[in-house]
Amino acid sequence: MKILYVTDLHGNINHYEQVLELAKRKDIDICINGADVLPKGGDLHSTQRIFIKEYLIKYAKKWKKEVNKPYYFTTGNDDLEFLDYNLFFTCKFHKDFRFMQNFCSYEIKSKNVVIVNYNNVKDYPFGLKNRCRLDNKNDDIDLIQYGPVYATSDGFENIMDWRAEAIKKPTIEEELKTITYDINLYKKRGYIVIFNCHVPPIGCGLDILLNGQPVGSDAVTNFILNVQPHLSLHGHIHESPMVTNKYYNYIDTTLCVQPGQEINKLHYAVIDIDENNCSIKGIKING
Ligand SMILES: [Fe+2]
Repeated sequence: MKILYVTDLHGNINHYEQVLELAKRKDIDICINGADVLPKGGDLHSTQRIFIKEYLIKYAKKWKKEVNKPYYFTTGNDDLEFLDYNLFFTCKFHKDFRFMQNFCSYEIKSKNVVIVNYNNVKDYPFGLKNRCRLDNKNDDIDLIQYGPVYATSDGFENIMDWRAEAIKKPTIEEELKTITYDINLYKKRGYIVIFNCHVPPIGCGLDILLNGQPVGSDAVTNFILNVQPHLSLHGHIHESPMVTNKYYNYIDTTLCVQPGQEINKLHYAVIDIDENNCSIKGIKING
């Protein structure tokens, strides 16, 4: 079974079209679009709504007509959270086009494969905070913050005291515990488990900023070590593979993939899975 994995497309229409062509050319079985799917610049409320209404719905129809294979996608920290409902209901009318909700599992029964989705991210100093979490109870908040806000359907609400807000939320470590049971159960039932998690793990070179700083999640690394999904798909730090030349790595037996993304060149991974032997046969990056 061949999976085409892309992430952080940020509404780049050229990339979306290339993904569709690749899916046909490489005869993939499913496509997973990791997170951060909507445009990033301009007036987010209008550009993201327009993108869904005027592009994504047509894309779903075109996908059905030309590819006709399951397409799974979810939203990330740069996608306005309240639009999750639009995406979820939009997809109700497009059977092959599936919007993955946070903490939910999606079974591909004919293939004995399940995708378990988690899309909150480790806190950063930038604006949109809806999906930001502290990594664990010992994590701290960057002292410098560039205008923390929550997005609502009406606009943005300034967050006066982000520290006070952040410590009220469950941490990534706590949230991941809630899906441990699901993953263990699916493994017992002989499923290939794909963990789709926007934030990359720390410690395996998939989370490196341009200045060389690792910014991945300890909680995600520990979670992967603990539950060992067969495949773990990440994104978020677009530049990391260009800095390290690492597009994937292993945490114990789990293959962790982070293809990164560029505006002028589509980054992607094609992962070949042997469903019968419950193993990863191979991975190809950008080719
Ligand atoms: Fe992101």
